[in-house]
Amino acid sequence: MLKHGKDSFNPFPIIRNAVSNVICSMAFGRRFNYEDIEFKTMLKNMARALELSVNRYMILVNICPWLYYLPFGPFWELRKTELDITAFLKKIIAQHRDTLDAANPRDFIDMYFIHAEEEKNNKESSFNEDYLFFIIGDLFIAGTDTTSNTLLWCLLYMSLYPEVQEKVHAEIEAVLGRDKVPSLTHKAQMPFTEATIMEVQRMTAVVPLSIPRMASETAVLQGYTIPKGSVIVPNLWSVHRDPNIWEKPENFNRRFLDEKGQLIKKEAFIPFGMGKRVCMGEQLAKMELFLIFASLMQSFTFLYPENAAKPSMDGRFGLTLAPCPFNIIALKR
Ligand code: HEM
Repeated sequence: MLKHGKDSFNPFPIIRNAVSNVICSMAFGRRFNYEDIEFKTMLKNMARALELSVNRYMILVNICPWLYYLPFGPFWELRKTELDITAFLKKIIAQHRDTLDAANPRDFIDMYFIHAEEEKNNKESSFNEDYLFFIIGDLFIAGTDTTSNTLLWCLLYMSLYPEVQEKVHAEIEAVLGRDKVPSLTHKAQMPFTEATIMEVQRMTAVVPLSIPRMASETAVLQGYTIPKGSVIVPNLWSVHRDPNIWEKPENFNRRFLDEKGQLIKKEAFIPFGMGKRVCMGEQLAKMELFLIFASLMQSFTFLYPENAAKPSMDGRFGLTLAPCPFNIIALKR
């Protein structure tokens, strides 16, 4: 339950836990209680590890791999989190293997085991427990940090732009009132709420640098030759802040709505990347963002504590762009 009242609180743990429970339910068929200190600590360490993984000292590991095994410092912090997450996931996979009932699959892991069994005589098959571990790890990490950071940014922006928050509240009041539980069927009737989430996603580009690609052949792009084999890191953040595309890109405004208040789709809005390797969880993430944001806004007004210093809106860069730590007040509406 979200802590509410006039006292401010740190919203990071509860938002991370709520978001992570969605992917945990789908992948491993279980959710974790908000009081589960062990799970909360792991989520906190995971966010920290994503930050550390792009720390400038980490590049040294490419030159001296043994640094990764030092029993102290940022390398150790990163390795410890990797070991914790590995142990956590392997335990869940083993529990599934031991209790599998092929006639009643419970979740993604069970479905994977069933398919692996069907493929067991196929020598080309890549369905094995090692792959399962990496897939589950990808889903768990990618499905937790990105969506939680986006929601945290949404709350922060709402507390700093009360006039926008008021309009979201007005739309919620008109479509949902106080009692209807938000569902995806309401989304089409709530363009202001959706446009607000999109503008937060544009401003913050939670995955600022997309997954690296390699040029499969030499190409010329706008006069630049990209030789075959070059590694290319797409910079999504720069697309979202390009003044040639967006009017006053540094401003938070209602740019995703036309004059009639209808939603406008923009080609340069690419928070989930693009092309064949576009985010696999895009549809899930969009559902989560709408449902969780609308539910929170239906119940609360978010305020930034009066005497607290405003956080830097540049965020903290890790593999994802997280908001800087902040406390918030959630007043029951
Ligand atoms: C607001 C939330 C999210 C954002 C902003 C986001 C963003 C991204 C981006 C930019 C990429 C790289 C795409 C590219 O290389 O072009 C990506 C990849 C990926 N995302 Fe997400 N993501 C989000 C939520 C999720 C969720 C909930 C899941 C879990 C199901 C997920 C799973 C993945 C996976 C597995 C990949 C790798 C896909 C591949 O390489 O083929 N993401 N995401």
